Amino acid sequence: MKPIHVGLLGLGTVGGGTLTVLRRNKEEISRRAGREIRVVQAAVRDLEKARKYAGDDLSLTGNPEEVVDNPAIDIVVELIGGISPARELVLKAIANGKHVVTANKALIAKHGNEIFAAAQAKGVIVAFEAAVAGGIPIIKAIREGLTANRIEWVAGIINGTCNFILSEMREKGSPFSEVLAEAQAKGYAEADPTFDIEGIDAAHKLTILSAIAFGVPMQFDAAYIEGISRLTKEDIRYAEELGYRIKLLGVTKRKENGIELRVHPTLIPARRLIANVEGVMNAVLVKGDAVGATLYYGAGAGAEPTASAVVADLVDVTRLHTADPHHRVPHLAFQPDQLTDLAVLPMAEVETAYYLRMRAADRPGVLADITRILADLAISIDAMMQKEPAEGEHQADIIMLTHVTQEKNVDAAIARIEALGSIEGRVTLIRMEELKG
Ligand code: NAP
Ligand code: HSE
Repeated sequence: MKPIHVGLLGLGTVGGGTLTVLRRNKEEISRRAGREIRVVQAAVRDLEKARKYAGDDLSLTGNPEEVVDNPAIDIVVELIGGISPARELVLKAIANGKHVVTANKALIAKHGNEIFAAAQAKGVIVAFEAAVAGGIPIIKAIREGLTANRIEWVAGIINGTCNFILSEMREKGSPFSEVLAEAQAKGYAEADPTFDIEGIDAAHKLTILSAIAFGVPMQFDAAYIEGISRLTKEDIRYAEELGYRIKLLGVTKRKENGIELRVHPTLIPARRLIANVEGVMNAVLVKGDAVGATLYYGAGAGAEPTASAVVADLVDVTRLHTADPHHRVPHLAFQPDQLTDLAVLPMAEVETAYYLRMRAADRPGVLADITRILADLAISIDAMMQKEPAEGEHQADIIMLTHVTQEKNVDAAIARIEALGSIEGRVTLIRMEELKG
């Protein structure tokens, strides 16, 4: 059978990895796909830098429009990243009747609704497995493997850079900036690493997971996002002492009146498997009503792990290329006319347990004032720890773990605690998740 022709937009970390994997495993991939998958053209900005990838079949261009307009190309793989020109190129490829594979979570989370509508109208596929959790086939698992289930919640460590930073800080005590530079050198970090550190990249991925788990449109703008830049070594240590690990977690839950969609540092019981996911590895827990909790683990970033997902999409598209568009797997798992408009709940309505840390004057009555405020707001304390003041100091760290309560109660309690004359500075709040199956 005639080879399927692929055009690559971008030959950086993921583009280079994709080409390498396709070339190295050419025979195996052809046996699986039923025909050869051949990259015939690639667009980059710096032609000289990409020269090492050129081969007999592959031509390089500095103009990505040439790839999306090339009539010989069946599938366009977008690995440029960012919104523009990626969005315009993807829409043009679709308009030209080409299937699209992308690893661009920012693009799918922010413009997926528009892109899928265009693809639907044109009868082409847009595949995006590599956009979430690198090499872990989590999109396929939720969209196809768990299709019998009513999904109740999804929680995941879905940013390799942050997990790498948190692991190195905890295990080696390495400074934040040094570990970030290492993640950048290894090709894990986004072009703008604040996307990683401030939780934006994880929120892009969580938005996509939420859409395919619950059959809702992409709602990135409604996500609550908090990154790891304000985490302190003390909080990481105190959490350990209480039997917890802090991870940057993406959590999306189905509730009666809407969905929760939130990314933030989270205390997880240290005995959970997911709490022991270290380095650049990612893990996603999915709770379905029939199957219970299932855990997916693997490399969340890097050239070849991400290429593994890109190539899997290429094989899928190759297999489905000739199938009737109405009988293909829907982009967002549910048929396009069956999506529901479940609203994302405000954080005030989110229910979880909390870690609270405050610096308090070490004198009688302070603890009683704090516990009275919590009691007034019906917040029950699960555990408490007080650290002795350091030599010559008169302030002690008080750490409290609460039982599950609504966030608006905790916000009100924090406002009152911070107003006490005995409390220095702000109260640190970190959410907790039990993640019980
Ligand atoms: P990268 O290393 O920076 O590579 C980007 C590539 O796109 C480079 O070859 C660059 O060419 C090319 N490019 C950029 N703008 C272009 C333009 N206007 N026209 C033509 N070529 C252009 O990025 P990456 O890490 O591979 O990431 C690519 C995508 O994959 C992003 O959406 C990212 O979020 C996603 N992703 C990355 C990882 C990872 O581990 N890195 C994992 C999952 C998903 P020059 O080099 O010539 O400038
Ligand atoms: N910057 C991302 C991460 C790349 O660190 O997880 C993979 O999506």
